[in-house]
Amino acid sequence: MTNCRQIAAAMMAPGKGILAADESIATMSKRLKDNRVEPTAENRRYYREMLASAPGLSDDISGIIFCDETLKQSFSDGTPFPQAVGELGILAGIKVDTGAKACPGLDGETITEGLDDLPARLAEYAKLGAAFAKWRAVFTIGSETPTQGAIRSNANALARYAAACQQAGLVPIVEPEVLMDGSHNLAVCRDVTEEVHTAVRAELGLLNVDLAGIILKPNMVIEGDGHGRVSSPEEVAEATVTVLRSWPGALAGVAFLSGGQDPERATDNLTAMQRHSTPWPLTFSFGRALVSPALSAWQGDPDRRSDGQATLLNRVKANGAAAGLRAALR
Ligand code: 13P
Repeated sequence: MTNCRQIAAAMMAPGKGILAADESIATMSKRLKDNRVEPTAENRRYYREMLASAPGLSDDISGIIFCDETLKQSFSDGTPFPQAVGELGILAGIKVDTGAKACPGLDGETITEGLDDLPARLAEYAKLGAAFAKWRAVFTIGSETPTQGAIRSNANALARYAAACQQAGLVPIVEPEVLMDGSHNLAVCRDVTEEVHTAVRAELGLLNVDLAGIILKPNMVIEGDGHGRVSSPEEVAEATVTVLRSWPGALAGVAFLSGGQDPERATDNLTAMQRHSTPWPLTFSFGRALVSPALSAWQGDPDRRSDGQATLLNRVKANGAAAGLRAALR
């Protein structure tokens, strides 16, 4: 358990965030195809190596989340990914859920799967060099959703995953994501996020999960992407921190997902969060808001590898500066 606390603290080092590069094979293949890159295992490997080996990445990134395929692949020089990023001063993480699947009994809602053989997989990932893990539960705002059934089932699964991780010595990133899909306003997102967090906290407590050894990865509280009015960073920060205040001070830290926000907007919102005083550090664990611009800059062209890296570093540095703002102000 002490080990989990130490790893979690290192993941939340001031001014550093976590890079989410753990897209499933299907999702990554689609993103490559959208950028006219052939979706082969080698191209997925090359792309992840390009991201992870961006010069100076560890100045602003404490950990990278990979999927099973990448964790078992190697850099071009033959060094396995976990050891290669370790040599660069970055912790390796692993997405261990097997995805959000249709939940029997709940029309149109999902339950995130992957608990069945989890202890064995966690032991294998720890042996391969992973220091932390991730599990994402997804909630969609609709006229009747999310239902209590979806909230409680997913909260319980998140807690079972988190307890299993700590038993295996891996820090669990606990990710309850309320999606931006929909035309709801910010207040609705705030209320739903609050309800989800309340359930997750209760389940984590029932399974004796040590909050000082987990990282919470929530959505920012934000209006739906089909809502007419765009909330300001101050409004997003105020609503988000209000919801988060129910988490005890023991929590190791909060690392936000970007959820499909425009990359600059995600950074502006993270910057505004830092003006609020909280007992735990607030940082980023963005996927798309960091890697989408880099993928577009690279486009699978070996001659544009350094363009891809420079574009990634540009976003990473902006978010690192945002995450470090509070420490710098002290
Ligand atoms: P986004 O930042 O693109 O939402 O991805 C974060 C993530 O890890 C999703 O599970």
